Amino acid sequence: MELSKRAKNLKPSPTLMITAKAKELKAKGIDIIGFGAGEPDFDTPSYVKEGAIKALKEGKTKYTPAAGIPELREAITQKLKLKNKIDYVVSEVVVVPGAKMGLYEIFASILDEKDEVIVPSPYWVSYPEQIELCDGKPVFLELSEKENFILTAEKLKTVITKKTKALVLNTPSNPTGAVIPQEELEKIADLCLQNNILIISDECYEEFTYEKPHTSIASLSPEVKAITFTVGAFSKSYSMTGWRLGWVAAPQTYTQAIINIQSQTISNPTSFAQYGALEALKDNGEFPKMMRQEFRKRRDYLLSELADIQGVTCPKPEGAFYAFPNLSYYIKGKIKNDLDLVSYLLEEAKIAVVPGSAFGKEGYIRMSYATSMENIKEGLKRMKQALKKLL
Ligand SMILES: Cc1ncc(COP(=O)(O)O)c(C=O)c1O
Repeated sequence: MELSKRAKNLKPSPTLMITAKAKELKAKGIDIIGFGAGEPDFDTPSYVKEGAIKALKEGKTKYTPAAGIPELREAITQKLKLKNKIDYVVSEVVVVPGAKMGLYEIFASILDEKDEVIVPSPYWVSYPEQIELCDGKPVFLELSEKENFILTAEKLKTVITKKTKALVLNTPSNPTGAVIPQEELEKIADLCLQNNILIISDECYEEFTYEKPHTSIASLSPEVKAITFTVGAFSKSYSMTGWRLGWVAAPQTYTQAIINIQSQTISNPTSFAQYGALEALKDNGEFPKMMRQEFRKRRDYLLSELADIQGVTCPKPEGAFYAFPNLSYYIKGKIKNDLDLVSYLLEEAKIAVVPGSAFGKEGYIRMSYATSMENIKEGLKRMKQALKKLL
């Protein structure tokens, strides 16, 4: 029997593949330094684990409502009110099994065949694949290093058509670390309002901004809130990637559609994990603050070292935990593209990085600094030596 077109066209996540490859080599005893990870290198806070363990002991191991347990929906609503300055009510907030699934459920809720979704590029790997899985059409909007990979309303205007249904906004960005300033978000929001475009605001890295505070686009006005999906997660903010928990906040017509999808697919996010997440939100942002301070030091070090490598340029990433340096200088001779370069770095320098082409940008690499300072220092030393050999 043939696979469906849908399944045949779907590519596996390249970032997960590279992380798996690095882990495999490490397991064989090869000393690989991983710059590929899309997750914090800190353990989940103990009070979060305790919350889940307590729930398990108390027998909270059965189905929950499809939208999540009421206490967690309420706590997320409060967090969005206090930290993000958005006035949602509980019925506008759904607990989802990770932001990734939340995004998929949004696309499934709003897209009909050939509806266009604008995806600024470089983009996080799953947006185009998910849009296509839901029969939509990703329309890429090329951003450049010259503009620090920051989306502007001016650029956005150039790709809007009658078929544009939505815009994917990801600030801070994976893979570039770019943070869109509030003044620009205001212009982007106005343009979306004028053109009847929904905004899917992926704010997974909201806790990690180093120069200016994070702004949620839905906080700009009630009109903007009415066209926006605010997507967030415990994954990065509380180092809970394996717990699979996040949220989608949006006007009730949309959240109800997502709840219906969950009720017919996953039933509910894992019961005891939700009780752990409830504890995370009680810490008033202390844990993410600790990680933010540490990531900032690592970012500064990484940037200063990259600036020291011949031919390499790297726009300053103001958020998330990634740098996205341009290594096109080294793409010549036997190194034909960034995939060759990544393989060379893995074999020669024993460091794992992700090729820019996985994010729609050939000639770049994504380096995650969610790894110890010691690893960053050693990894960069090796990278410098390996690149020198290519000169
Ligand atoms: C931009 C972006 N959105 C969404 C996700 C998915 O997050 P989650 O683990 O909560 O599904 C990631 C994870 O890497 C991401 O980088």
